[in-house]
Amino acid sequence: MKYITLGRTGLKVSAVGLGFWEIGSRAWGGSPEAAKNIVAKALELGINFFDTAEVYGNGRSEEALGMALRSLGAVDSAVVATKVGGFRPNAYLIVKGAQASVRRLGFRPALLQLHWPPPVWVPLCGVIRGLEEAVRRGLAEYIGVSNFPGNLLERAAQCLKSADIVSDQVEYSLAYRVPEIDVIPVANKLGAKVIAYSPLAKGALAGASPQKLVQRADRRYAATSSDAELQRVLEEIATAKGVSKSSIALAWLVSKAALPIPGTTRPEHVDELAAGGSLELSEDDIRKLDGASYRYRTAWGNRYANLRTMRYVPCLLQYIGLRAIGGA
Ligand SMILES: NC(=O)c1ccc[n+]([C@@H]2O[C@H](COP(=O)([O-])OP(=O)(O)OC[C@H]3O[C@@H](n4cnc5c(N)ncnc54)[C@H](OP(=O)(O)O)[C@@H]3O)[C@@H](O)[C@H]2O)c1
Repeated sequence: MKYITLGRTGLKVSAVGLGFWEIGSRAWGGSPEAAKNIVAKALELGINFFDTAEVYGNGRSEEALGMALRSLGAVDSAVVATKVGGFRPNAYLIVKGAQASVRRLGFRPALLQLHWPPPVWVPLCGVIRGLEEAVRRGLAEYIGVSNFPGNLLERAAQCLKSADIVSDQVEYSLAYRVPEIDVIPVANKLGAKVIAYSPLAKGALAGASPQKLVQRADRRYAATSSDAELQRVLEEIATAKGVSKSSIALAWLVSKAALPIPGTTRPEHVDELAAGGSLELSEDDIRKLDGASYRYRTAWGNRYANLRTMRYVPCLLQYIGLRAIGGA
């Protein structure tokens, strides 16, 4: 496993992390019982970075990850990132959210991220300073954001006096390369790490067939699972190296200096995910993958727009909606 520094922190994290939306959420159905085996396997293979969020299964994901790490005695060797919902409109509620996350995890996370930008009428700096206040109170070590396009990332960084924004967690994969245009140039300027979510396009880049609604409803999934040229190039490189397509898709993100956080419900898939963090792709491999996925730099627009509609939904409505459906 390769290791990298997480933005402007001294934290050494594995080049590939693990996402925990799959565990405890209705969307994916991963069981908390599987969590311990997944985490144990991940640690054994050198993965030390884990991502979760308060909205995943209404806190069940945080609980399962916390329980797994504690029961394995691995809290100190893991770097845990969590996210507070973008429905929290002020510093007071951000701190409250961070306190609840610490309770569910059973320890302080290293990274506290804002899951999505606040509504347009909510002052951004009030929310960002809430993250700073949470760090000042010892509820997390570092501040990150998620789903922030480049312009908002730049504005958020300007809100802070005593801390940096160390990361922006955005959708980024061979199936969705918009961050290369909109997010990465700003992140590089700020020294922030781009954490790549949905790095396998919800399984499409691993060659999975869609079984869950969350996959069937995903436009990126549909486009890339039926993209014969991209699948062919992935297959060709994977076969030549004797690894799986998922490992190649993750190694490509590592070659772009992003930190992918694939998710899984199955311990037996962790090997392939971890392999993405130790593989070396040749310049020729990267050129072929760049070429086969080139259209996905702009096919979905030039601006990073994920969860953008949330910017027009009042915080209370967002909160009630998420509670009503049992979390994301
Ligand atoms: N910040 C945000 O707004 C946001 C949004 C989405 C996700 N995320 C984060 O990103 C993480 C990952 O993203 P994601 O959940 O969207 O999806 P993803 O990692 O792109 O794909 C996960 C899917 O890939 C499948 N998969 C993994 N390895 C496989 C293999 N070897 N063969 C076949 N299928 C395989 C998994 O199925 P199995 O269960 O069968 O392995 C699962 O269905 C999440 O856990 C979460 O932490 C963040």
